Amino acid sequence: MLSAILPIFVMCISTINCISHDLPDYFPRCPINDPNLNNCLLKAFNTVRPYVKKGVDEIGILPFEPLVLETFSLSQENIAVNFTVTTWNFTIGGIDNYNVKEINYNPETLVFSTKMEFGALPIYSMYEMSGRVLHIPVEGKGFVAATLGPVNATIRIEGELVEADGVEYYNTTNIKVTESINDIEITMQGLFGGDEELGRVTNSLLNRFSVGIIHACTPALEQLAEEMFMRFMKSFTGSVPYYKIFPKLNN
Ligand SMILES: *[C@@H]1O[C@H](CO)[C@@H](O)[C@H](O)[C@H]1NC(C)=O
Ligand SMILES: *[C@@H]1O[C@H](CO)[C@@H](O)[C@H](O)[C@H]1NC(C)=O
Ligand SMILES: *[C@@H]1O[C@H](CO)[C@@H](O)[C@H](O)[C@H]1NC(C)=O
Ligand SMILES: *[C@@H]1O[C@H](CO)[C@@H](O)[C@H](O)[C@H]1NC(C)=O
Repeated sequence: MLSAILPIFVMCISTINCISHDLPDYFPRCPINDPNLNNCLLKAFNTVRPYVKKGVDEIGILPFEPLVLETFSLSQENIAVNFTVTTWNFTIGGIDNYNVKEINYNPETLVFSTKMEFGALPIYSMYEMSGRVLHIPVEGKGFVAATLGPVNATIRIEGELVEADGVEYYNTTNIKVTESINDIEITMQGLFGGDEELGRVTNSLLNRFSVGIIHACTPALEQLAEEMFMRFMKSFTGSVPYYKIFPKLNN
């Protein structure tokens, strides 16, 4: 369903211990034995917001605002929708405009879960697409601009502790993302070889049926988000030792 050359938004990919750094001093830390660990994490998520935007040089995390995905292809084939789309320079803004509703980390099971809300996310990209969404044929190549959202997302991350050179790291083994997307507003240029009338009619139909369309396309978008989070987690927890992220407090 998804084939992706996903973002180089991290410099260090998929290998444990490939940079091995401590978090920068200005980064919040939550002690693993803090009885209010979840509150600490909730605060930390708000504290790191500016760094989500700017990136964190020291540990190789590139800026998320905007997030640019060089290229990926998505296909979905079922009764509701049947399409293949390839994008270039897929640019998504507003990722740092999140609100964390719930956060839960269980140090025993190593399972992390969170519920987050995002505002409207502006998107623009070059695209090539063929197929249909609901009953609307969509064929074209060009520029697309859209506004997606608001979006509610739940993210569940599972992992295990692995050791490299006597130091423990969190190795993410599974990520599940569930999204509830309110709506999409979309303008596609270059539809049907640039046919103006067909382009106008298609855009108008896409927007009239936008709620159904976004509902039908949500599984593909969830899969995209899972791939992105996996890349991010591999880089982040692969370069910062587990007990640097969650220090043990002696008390
Ligand atoms: C999807 O489109 C392809 C190519 O047009 C077609 O062969 C296939 O049967 C379609 N699948 C569904 C479920 O409509
Ligand atoms: C994507 O962006 C890069 C850098 O701005 C540019 O060189 C490239 O031509 C763009 N690709 C497309 C398909 O627009
Ligand atoms: C991390 O988990 C992945 C997926 O389960 C696994 O393939 C990989 O071997 C693990 N890495 C280490 C260093 O254990
Ligand atoms: C997101 O959740 C809030 C409640 O926290 C709800 O009011 C809102 O309608 C939800 N939005 C979407 C797009 O599901």
